[in-house]
Amino acid sequence: MPTPHNSAENGMIAKTVLMPGDPLRAKYIAETYLENPVLFSSVRGMLGYTGSYRGRTLSVMGSGMGMPSIGIYSYELYSQYGVENIIRIGSAGSYCEEARIYDVVLATAAFSESSFARVQSGYQEPFTYPDKGLCERLRQSAGHLGIPLIEGVVHSSDVFYREDRTPYYQRLHDEQGCLCVEMESFALFHNASVLHKNAACLLTISDSFVSHEETSAEERQTSFTAMMQVALEAVEE
Ligand code: ADE
Repeated sequence: MPTPHNSAENGMIAKTVLMPGDPLRAKYIAETYLENPVLFSSVRGMLGYTGSYRGRTLSVMGSGMGMPSIGIYSYELYSQYGVENIIRIGSAGSYCEEARIYDVVLATAAFSESSFARVQSGYQEPFTYPDKGLCERLRQSAGHLGIPLIEGVVHSSDVFYREDRTPYYQRLHDEQGCLCVEMESFALFHNASVLHKNAACLLTISDSFVSHEETSAEERQTSFTAMMQVALEAVEE
């Protein structure tokens, strides 16, 4: 500590970290929601801040896109900085009619074809799981705020631009029960598991493989705010 990817000193990062994919989203969250935000790292532009929200100390840091990226940042936060809880807050593409644009999804498992877990620790299963306690706190927070959550398996993909989109997404939905696709949760849940830490993931549906709708930047911001509030209200000291 510091690490090759994080310049924070000991004690600068809170026990709970919210991780959006986009580092500028982390900056926005810190500047909009946290009191007295302090920038703890900007290595490679991956901005991380610590501040307080309603008297609770909290950090927010970008994860970057994909499992290699979140794999590095989350592993270091857990193993070098004493972080106990990471809540990923991201976006996802829907694989089904049930998950519509702007809906908020709570991941109950992540399915992946990725080699991340096998290479990382020899874990052979295609599913990794979030922490039940952290998920329950997110559920309660959403309940208090009146924000409905859709719960289910998410697909963590290594590939954003596929050649055979339609048959592939239908198979993942029908055979693996995946509601939507994103690119990070499988690795995050795996790192938390091997390091005996906690992780959870909230996602806002930003596009749909079924209806082919996409969201405007402004609409994404509004729906992102609902997901943010669920995550912020769930944070305990
Ligand atoms: N995140 C948001 N939309 C996505 C998509 N279509 N594929 C992968 N990750 C996503």
